[in-house]
Order: sequence, then structure tokens, then C-alpha cells
Amino acid sequence: MVDAIALIFGVHQTTVDKLLGRDGMHPSIMAPMEYVFKLTLVDNDAGGIPALWGEHNPEFDDNVTPLMMLGVLPSVLARRAYRARTRIAAALERYFSARHDGAAGVSAFVRERSRLLRSYGVDDGELARNETAITLVATSNAVATLFWCLAELFARPDLLRDVRAEVARAVAVQGEGRRATVPAAGLEARVPLLASAYREAIRLASQSVASRRVLRDTVVSAGAGGPSYLLRAGTDVFLPAKQVHRDRAVWGADAERFDARRFLARAHGGGASDDVLRLRRAAFVPFGGGKHLCPGRHFVFVENLATMAALALGFELDGLDAARLQMAESRRGETAKPVPGMAGGPVVLRRRKGWEDVVWEFSW
Ligand code: HEM
Repeated sequence: MVDAIALIFGVHQTTVDKLLGRDGMHPSIMAPMEYVFKLTLVDNDAGGIPALWGEHNPEFDDNVTPLMMLGVLPSVLARRAYRARTRIAAALERYFSARHDGAAGVSAFVRERSRLLRSYGVDDGELARNETAITLVATSNAVATLFWCLAELFARPDLLRDVRAEVARAVAVQGEGRRATVPAAGLEARVPLLASAYREAIRLASQSVASRRVLRDTVVSAGAGGPSYLLRAGTDVFLPAKQVHRDRAVWGADAERFDARRFLARAHGGGASDDVLRLRRAAFVPFGGGKHLCPGRHFVFVENLATMAALALGFELDGLDAARLQMAESRRGETAKPVPGMAGGPVVLRRRKGWEDVVWEFSW
């Protein structure tokens, strides 16, 4: 999606036009977010090419997500999704067999993963089946977390004002034709309030459930004086982020509420002590943990933070109705999306006055 960010913010004007629409009107903020999703994955009619897979993008189908969690007789119980997944794997196998992953314009993410897996002897068929998951994991959670951060930020004029002030200090605007450069590398240190707001959006939206099977009898302990638990070999253990992220013992009595400054250190104006922040860091598990900890976590943090910085500074979102924002229950352990029809209502996304001519760039 990094490539998509560049596409959105000025490299291809056609994409900006498509994203905003002719009058910038959208049924909700989710619409442009979903457009980014499509652009990353499937669309190649936007004056660009799909950001992940390059110009030889396989023809993807939708309706495959039920299979990601369903392991019981999938060909019977999730027939449509099963067929869709089989077609995706077949399309990817043709893609990998033709070595399209080595072509110019393919994201480094796709190129390096296939290089590494092939170096371990993984053949094209296995590679294709493995990579079907990427179509989902690399995009859907990232888009949903961006949605919530954007919605929470633009629903709070005071917060938006403070974020704009810190982002304005971090972004360099210069040159003829006015180029605004967001320094994606090292951005967090320059925009601590925005980074805290983004973590807070993830905290509330994350409903992932990491699962593990215990291989050997294992004792886990809550530390000195705390209880210990024996996890027997063969048992399945689940780590549900939603419960952990709303535990009042860790997050306080207002754990259900969005507080943009919750992750801010005192040095930056936050209210929590260093000890509390340490505890919260340990209880922040949107990316799972251990050996299978999400490998995209730093990547997605930078891409969404940089995108948010540009959106906050250069764009207005008119018409957002905070009373019409409601989070749905996620049924498959992915980041929560809004309840249908409760995504904040119709909005107009437009460039801010004085920022109409700016071309956005991201430095790495
Ligand atoms: C906000 C966005 C994201 C969230 C909330 C998220 C969350 C997760 C979670 C909960 C897991 C399972 C971890 C576990 O079982 O312990 C996971 C795995 C994974 N994620 Fe992410 N992820 C995000 C973005 C991404 C991106 C952008 C990529 C790639 C570009 C990515 C690639 C992967 C891969 C390949 C795995 C499987 C790791 C393994 O099984 O070893 N994720 N992610």
C-alpha cells in the first residue's frame, strides 16, 4: 500500500480525481478507504498498477474470507469461498510460474517473500497457496485501522487542530508547484500525538484472536505473588485482543472510550506514568505475538501514520456525523469495520484551503 499512498497523493492525478470523485462526495469515509484497498489489490484501471503484484496482477475474486477461519469440510460448508480460493491459488500459480514476481513495478514485499520461500525449496504451487493469505492480511486490517483513526480524528475538531499543528512542523513544503514531503522514516518521534491517536484507534478496533497449540506442558505465571497456570500439551490457546485491549485493570475505568492521548508519554503531555505505559505496551496485542507476530506491523504503522499525516494536514472531511459511527463485531478475528450504514454518513473529502495545489510526497 506504500505504492498506493504515492498514487493517491499526487503522483497520478487521475487517481486523486478518482479517489475524491468529481465533487469529492462519498457515501462514507469507508468508500475511499475501500478504493485504496481495491487499488492495492485488484484494480489496474486507475492510471497505475496494483501496488502489490504489479502489472501482471492475477484476476482476483472476492468472497474468499470465510475460508480463512473455516477448516471443517470447506468444500461443502463454504463452497463459494472454497472455489474462489482455489481460483485465486491457480491464478497466483500461473503468476509465479511465469516469474511475474520478478518484473519491474512489483512491490518489494511480494518479490522478497517469493525469493525467500523459493530459496527453501518451495515450489510454485505451494508458494501460490501460501500467498493467497497475503491478499487479505496485507490490506484489510490496514484499511480498517486507517478508517477508525481518520473517523476519530476528524470527529474531534480540537484534536484535529493539535494534530495539524504537530504535523505542520514535521512536513516540509517547498519548491515550485509546492511539494509537501512527509518524512515517513522517523515520523513517530515527530508526531507523537498522531501516533498515540493511531495506536488508540487500533486498540479499540482490533478484534484479532491469535491461536496456538501447546506442544509441551507449560506453566505461565502472572509474576511474583500472582497466580500460575498449567497449559497442558495439546490444548488450544487463544489470545483475544478485544478483551485484553479493554481490560480496565490495565487501561483504566474509561477503557471503552477513545482517548487520543492514552499512549502519550508524560514528556509529550500524556497523563500516564512510565510504569503504566509499560504495562499498556505489554497488553497491546493487535499484532499477535511470539513466532507468528505480524511481520507487517512496522510497515503498516509507517504507511498509515504517513497517510494520516497527509490527510490531516492537507484535507478536510465535511459532513462526518459522529453519532452515525458504530463499530461492528468482527466475526473472523479481523479489525472491526463499521456496522453497515453506520460509517459516519455521507462525507465530502476535499483539499484544505491553501493546499489545493500541493503534490504530496513521502520520503523513506
Ligand atoms: C493494522 C494492520 C494489521 C494488523 C492489525 C495485523 C494483525 C495481524 C495478526 C493479529 C496476525 C496473527 C499474529 C499471531 O498469530 O500471533 C498477523 C499475521 C500476519 N500478518 Fe498482519 N496485521 C496487519 C497488517 C499487515 C500487513 C500490512 C502485512 C503485510 C504487508 C501483514 C502480514 C502478515 C503476515 C504475513 C502474517 C502471518 C505471520 C505468521 O503466521 O508467521 N500484516 N497480522
